[in-house]
Amino acid sequence: MELERLLRSQGFGSRPECRHLIYSGRVSVFGEPCDDPFAKFEPEGFSFSVDGVLWGYRKFVYLALNKPANYECSQKPKHHPSVYTLLPPPLLMRGVQAVGRLDEDTTGLLLLTDDGQFIHTYTSPKKLVPKVYEVMTKHSIDDTQLSGLVSGVQLNDEPAPIAATACERLSERLMRLTVTEGKYHLVKRMIAAASNRVEALHRVSIGGFELPSSLLPGQWMWMEAADLERLGSRKQVN
Ligand code: URA
Repeated sequence: MELERLLRSQGFGSRPECRHLIYSGRVSVFGEPCDDPFAKFEPEGFSFSVDGVLWGYRKFVYLALNKPANYECSQKPKHHPSVYTLLPPPLLMRGVQAVGRLDEDTTGLLLLTDDGQFIHTYTSPKKLVPKVYEVMTKHSIDDTQLSGLVSGVQLNDEPAPIAATACERLSERLMRLTVTEGKYHLVKRMIAAASNRVEALHRVSIGGFELPSSLLPGQWMWMEAADLERLGSRKQVN
Protein backbone atom coordinates (compact mmCIF):
# COMPACT_ATOMS: atom_id res chain seq x y z
CA MET A 1 0.00 0.00 0.00
CA GLU A 2 1.25 3.52 -0.75
CA LEU A 3 2.67 5.41 2.23
CA GLU A 4 0.10 8.21 2.05
CA ARG A 5 -2.73 5.65 2.05
CA LEU A 6 -1.15 3.79 4.95
CA LEU A 7 -0.93 6.98 7.01
CA ARG A 8 -4.49 7.87 6.11
CA SER A 9 -5.72 4.45 7.31
CA GLN A 10 -3.93 5.05 10.63
CA GLY A 11 -5.66 8.36 11.36
CA PHE A 12 -3.16 10.93 10.09
CA GLY A 13 -5.70 12.87 8.05
CA SER A 14 -6.90 12.98 4.46
CA ARG A 15 -4.64 11.76 1.65
CA PRO A 16 -3.56 15.34 0.77
CA GLU A 17 -2.82 15.98 4.46
CA CYS A 18 -0.77 12.78 4.69
CA ARG A 19 1.07 13.66 1.48
CA HIS A 20 1.92 17.06 2.96
CA LEU A 21 3.14 15.41 6.15
CA ILE A 22 5.42 13.14 4.13
CA TYR A 23 6.74 15.89 1.84
CA SER A 24 7.56 18.03 4.86
CA GLY A 25 9.98 15.34 6.09
CA ARG A 26 8.09 14.48 9.27
CA VAL A 27 7.71 10.78 8.48
CA SER A 28 10.20 7.93 8.91
CA VAL A 29 9.67 4.34 7.88
CA PHE A 30 11.44 1.52 9.74
CA GLY A 31 13.68 4.21 11.26
CA GLU A 32 14.67 5.93 7.97
CA PRO A 33 13.23 9.25 6.75
CA CYS A 34 10.88 8.77 3.78
CA ASP A 35 9.59 11.68 1.70
CA ASP A 36 7.91 9.65 -1.06
CA PRO A 37 4.13 9.46 -0.50
CA PHE A 38 3.82 6.79 -3.18
CA ALA A 39 6.46 4.40 -1.80
CA LYS A 40 4.77 1.03 -1.30
CA PHE A 41 4.84 -1.09 1.86
CA GLU A 42 3.08 -4.17 3.17
CA PRO A 43 0.67 -3.05 5.92
CA GLU A 44 1.37 -6.12 8.06
CA GLY A 45 4.27 -5.42 10.42
CA PHE A 46 4.65 -1.89 9.01
CA SER A 47 6.23 0.56 11.43
CA PHE A 48 6.64 4.29 10.97
CA SER A 49 7.12 7.43 12.96
CA VAL A 50 5.62 10.88 12.67
CA ASP A 51 7.52 13.70 14.37
CA GLY A 52 9.59 11.04 16.13
CA VAL A 53 6.61 9.19 17.61
CA LEU A 54 6.65 5.51 16.69
CA TRP A 55 3.50 3.82 15.36
CA GLY A 56 2.76 0.33 14.05
CA TYR A 57 0.13 -0.43 11.44
CA ARG A 58 -3.06 -1.72 13.03
CA LYS A 59 -6.12 -2.78 11.09
CA PHE A 60 -8.21 -1.96 14.16
CA VAL A 61 -7.14 -0.49 17.46
CA TYR A 62 -8.18 -1.83 20.86
CA LEU A 63 -7.31 0.27 23.90
CA ALA A 64 -7.65 -0.01 27.65
CA LEU A 65 -7.94 3.30 29.50
CA ASN A 66 -7.78 3.87 33.23
CA LYS A 67 -10.63 6.35 33.37
CA PRO A 68 -10.15 9.06 35.98
CA ALA A 69 -13.07 10.54 37.93
CA ASN A 70 -14.67 13.66 36.51
CA TYR A 71 -14.37 12.65 32.87
CA GLU A 72 -17.37 11.91 30.67
CA CYS A 73 -17.58 9.03 28.18
CA SER A 74 -19.20 11.29 25.63
CA GLN A 75 -18.05 13.07 22.48
CA LYS A 76 -20.12 16.04 23.65
CA PRO A 77 -19.57 16.26 27.40
CA LYS A 78 -21.73 18.56 29.48
CA HIS A 79 -19.92 19.13 32.78
CA HIS A 80 -16.45 17.62 32.57
CA PRO A 81 -13.82 16.93 29.92
CA SER A 82 -14.38 13.98 27.62
CA VAL A 83 -12.34 10.77 27.97
CA TYR A 84 -11.51 11.29 24.29
CA THR A 85 -9.26 14.22 25.24
CA LEU A 86 -6.98 11.61 26.85
CA LEU A 87 -6.18 9.99 23.47
CA PRO A 88 -3.79 11.16 20.73
CA PRO A 89 -5.41 12.79 17.65
CA PRO A 90 -4.74 9.92 15.17
CA LEU A 91 -6.78 7.55 17.34
CA LEU A 92 -9.65 10.02 17.44
CA MET A 93 -9.38 10.57 13.71
CA ARG A 94 -9.77 6.80 13.25
CA GLY A 95 -13.09 7.00 15.06
CA VAL A 96 -12.16 5.23 18.29
CA GLN A 97 -15.17 4.96 20.61
CA ALA A 98 -15.79 3.74 24.14
CA VAL A 99 -17.19 0.21 24.43
CA GLY A 100 -20.13 1.08 26.67
CA ARG A 101 -19.87 3.91 29.16
CA LEU A 102 -18.83 4.57 32.71
CA ASP A 103 -20.47 7.34 34.72
CA GLU A 104 -18.51 10.55 35.10
CA ASP A 105 -17.64 9.74 38.73
CA THR A 106 -16.75 6.07 38.01
CA THR A 107 -13.07 5.23 37.61
CA GLY A 108 -11.16 2.31 36.14
CA LEU A 109 -11.17 0.07 33.11
CA LEU A 110 -12.74 1.46 29.94
CA LEU A 111 -12.24 -0.25 26.58
CA LEU A 112 -12.10 1.77 23.37
CA THR A 113 -11.89 0.65 19.76
CA ASP A 114 -12.64 1.58 16.16
CA ASP A 115 -13.90 -1.96 15.46
CA GLY A 116 -17.67 -1.50 15.14
CA GLN A 117 -18.34 -5.24 15.28
CA PHE A 118 -16.42 -5.50 18.55
CA ILE A 119 -18.46 -2.64 20.07
CA HIS A 120 -21.65 -4.28 18.90
CA THR A 121 -20.68 -7.66 20.37
CA TYR A 122 -19.46 -6.29 23.70
CA THR A 123 -22.41 -4.00 24.27
CA SER A 124 -24.98 -6.59 23.23
CA PRO A 125 -27.19 -7.78 26.11
CA LYS A 126 -26.65 -11.32 24.77
CA LYS A 127 -22.91 -11.22 25.46
CA LEU A 128 -22.72 -11.90 29.18
CA VAL A 129 -19.21 -10.68 29.96
CA PRO A 130 -18.40 -10.47 33.68
CA LYS A 131 -17.44 -6.97 34.78
CA VAL A 132 -15.92 -6.60 38.21
CA TYR A 133 -16.32 -3.42 40.26
CA GLU A 134 -14.93 -2.30 43.57
CA VAL A 135 -17.72 -0.50 45.32
CA MET A 136 -17.20 1.87 48.24
CA THR A 137 -20.49 2.25 50.05
CA LYS A 138 -21.89 4.92 52.33
CA HIS A 139 -23.10 2.49 55.00
CA SER A 140 -21.63 -0.71 56.42
CA ILE A 141 -22.16 -3.73 54.23
CA ASP A 142 -24.09 -6.52 55.93
CA ASP A 143 -24.71 -10.15 54.99
CA THR A 144 -28.33 -9.47 54.02
CA GLN A 145 -27.15 -6.96 51.42
CA LEU A 146 -24.58 -9.39 50.02
CA SER A 147 -27.01 -12.28 49.79
CA GLY A 148 -29.69 -9.97 48.33
CA LEU A 149 -27.34 -8.82 45.58
CA VAL A 150 -26.46 -12.41 44.68
CA SER A 151 -30.02 -13.70 44.75
CA GLY A 152 -31.26 -10.68 42.77
CA VAL A 153 -32.63 -7.20 43.43
CA GLN A 154 -35.66 -5.66 41.78
CA LEU A 155 -34.88 -2.38 39.99
CA ASN A 156 -37.44 0.14 38.79
CA ASP A 157 -38.28 -0.33 35.11
CA GLU A 158 -36.84 -3.85 34.99
CA PRO A 159 -39.17 -6.79 34.40
CA ALA A 160 -37.23 -9.21 36.61
CA PRO A 161 -34.73 -9.06 39.49
CA ILE A 162 -31.08 -8.62 38.52
CA ALA A 163 -28.45 -10.68 40.32
CA ALA A 164 -24.74 -10.15 40.78
CA THR A 165 -22.75 -13.21 39.71
CA ALA A 166 -20.42 -12.69 42.68
CA CYS A 167 -20.26 -10.36 45.63
CA GLU A 168 -17.57 -10.26 48.27
CA ARG A 169 -17.03 -7.90 51.20
CA LEU A 170 -13.45 -6.62 51.29
CA SER A 171 -13.84 -4.34 54.30
CA GLU A 172 -16.64 -2.69 56.27
CA ARG A 173 -17.67 -0.40 53.39
CA LEU A 174 -15.88 -1.94 50.43
CA MET A 175 -17.14 -4.79 48.28
CA ARG A 176 -16.20 -6.45 45.03
CA LEU A 177 -19.22 -7.01 42.81
CA THR A 178 -19.44 -8.90 39.52
CA VAL A 179 -22.23 -8.22 37.05
CA THR A 180 -22.72 -9.40 33.50
CA GLU A 181 -25.21 -6.84 32.27
CA GLY A 182 -24.43 -3.31 31.13
CA LYS A 183 -27.52 -1.32 32.03
CA TYR A 184 -27.57 2.38 32.85
CA HIS A 185 -26.26 3.08 36.40
CA LEU A 186 -26.60 -0.66 37.04
CA VAL A 187 -24.31 -0.99 40.04
CA LYS A 188 -25.55 2.18 41.72
CA ARG A 189 -29.16 1.07 41.26
CA MET A 190 -28.43 -2.45 42.53
CA ILE A 191 -26.68 -1.13 45.63
CA ALA A 192 -29.53 1.30 46.28
CA ALA A 193 -32.02 -1.56 45.89
CA ALA A 194 -30.01 -3.48 48.50
CA SER A 195 -30.52 -0.54 50.92
CA ASN A 196 -27.06 0.98 50.67
CA ARG A 197 -25.50 3.71 48.53
CA VAL A 198 -22.46 3.93 46.26
CA GLU A 199 -19.86 6.48 47.32
CA ALA A 200 -17.17 5.44 44.83
CA LEU A 201 -17.12 2.97 41.97
CA HIS A 202 -14.05 1.55 40.22
CA ARG A 203 -14.09 -1.08 37.44
CA VAL A 204 -11.21 -3.50 37.88
CA SER A 205 -11.80 -6.04 35.12
CA ILE A 206 -13.80 -7.10 32.10
CA GLY A 207 -13.85 -10.80 31.24
CA GLY A 208 -10.43 -12.10 32.27
CA PHE A 209 -8.69 -8.80 31.53
CA GLU A 210 -7.66 -6.83 34.61
CA LEU A 211 -6.73 -3.17 34.65
CA PRO A 212 -2.94 -3.29 35.09
CA SER A 213 -1.82 -1.57 38.30
CA SER A 214 0.93 0.16 36.29
CA LEU A 215 -1.69 2.02 34.23
CA LEU A 216 -2.25 5.25 36.13
CA PRO A 217 -5.51 7.24 35.99
CA GLY A 218 -5.72 8.97 32.62
CA GLN A 219 -3.27 6.59 30.93
CA TRP A 220 -4.15 4.18 28.15
CA MET A 221 -2.47 1.13 26.61
CA TRP A 222 -2.78 -0.87 23.41
CA MET A 223 -4.60 -4.16 23.90
CA GLU A 224 -2.72 -6.86 22.06
CA ALA A 225 -4.01 -10.26 20.94
CA ALA A 226 -3.27 -11.89 24.32
CA ASP A 227 -5.18 -9.13 26.16
CA LEU A 228 -8.17 -9.59 23.86
CA GLU A 229 -8.04 -13.32 24.39
CA ARG A 230 -8.13 -12.72 28.15
CA LEU A 231 -11.15 -10.55 27.58
CA GLY A 232 -12.79 -13.49 25.85
CA SER A 233 -12.30 -12.35 22.26
CA ARG A 234 -10.05 -13.79 19.57
CA LYS A 235 -8.87 -10.95 17.38
CA GLN A 236 -6.00 -10.33 15.11
CA VAL A 237 -4.73 -6.87 16.00
CA ASN A 238 -2.56 -6.05 12.97
N1 URA B 1 -22.74 0.87 37.10
C1 URA B 1 -22.94 2.16 37.47
O1 URA B 1 -23.84 2.45 38.23
N2 URA B 1 -22.11 3.10 36.96
C2 URA B 1 -21.08 2.82 36.14
O2 URA B 1 -20.35 3.72 35.73
C3 URA B 1 -20.89 1.48 35.77
C4 URA B 1 -21.73 0.52 36.27
